[in-house]
Amino acid sequence: MNTSFKSIFVSTVFLLFLLPSVGIAQHEPVYTFDPDKSQGGSGKFYLDREISHVMGHQGAQWLERPERIQEEQPDQVVANMGLEPDHVVADIGAGTGYFSFRMAKLVPQGKVMSVDIQPEMLALIEERKKKEGVTNIEGVRGEIDNPNLPPNSIDAALMVDAYHEFSHPYEMIKGIYDALKLGGKIFLLEYRAEDPTVPIRPLHKMTQSQAIREMSVFNLEWTETLDFLPWQHMMVFTKVE
Ligand SMILES: C[S@@+](CC[C@H](N)C(=O)[O-])C[C@H]1O[C@@H](n2cnc3c(N)ncnc32)[C@H](O)[C@@H]1O
Repeated sequence: MNTSFKSIFVSTVFLLFLLPSVGIAQHEPVYTFDPDKSQGGSGKFYLDREISHVMGHQGAQWLERPERIQEEQPDQVVANMGLEPDHVVADIGAGTGYFSFRMAKLVPQGKVMSVDIQPEMLALIEERKKKEGVTNIEGVRGEIDNPNLPPNSIDAALMVDAYHEFSHPYEMIKGIYDALKLGGKIFLLEYRAEDPTVPIRPLHKMTQSQAIREMSVFNLEWTETLDFLPWQHMMVFTKVE
């Protein structure tokens, strides 16, 4: 091998194999475990945020409490999502379907994919579907690190009071990102951590800057935050690439 051929060979190997692996490394999830720093959550941290515990299905009734209409204004939330009648929208961490059933009315020719990891929650959604004759909601059994949605299949995803408890936020957002069509939107609703008067435990809140930090790991552009809700941010992110 002459010298110039050797240097071309070495640079090609570097560009083909070493550079991409450096790039990929930046996009791997970095989780740390520090029980000593825990504020009562899981002790697992993602980008300096402690992940909370999952709300068990035993608390399902709490999700249907009447005060929620005032506190979280669910009808106004779904009305502000810009849904079209034929849209396919995912409700990630759907719980009892508090938001799924409202969105289903807005997408009569489309459907709602209600994703949850707890089969008991999905069973409650099935029960209500039968009772009310709703045919455009599909329950999806997700995994802690995978929403189990087909790629390029959804126009929007909604997460209400759920993302802060995902044990694998990086993998979940990757799965949602892959499932979104280009230009599709994520609506992320979390209690405002910037406001100490919001009466929710700190680990169940999130600041806007933290949410932007976590979403921008992927090509998800922060589009706007609708701050009409008494206690929550309604943050909108768009898949731009
Ligand atoms: C506090 S509840 C909120 C339910 C619903 N979004 C609402 O606002 O009424 C959070 C839900 O997220 C679900 N969950 C937790 N981790 C999840 C994951 N990785 N994928 C899908 N659902 C998850 C829980 O099972 C629970 O039903």
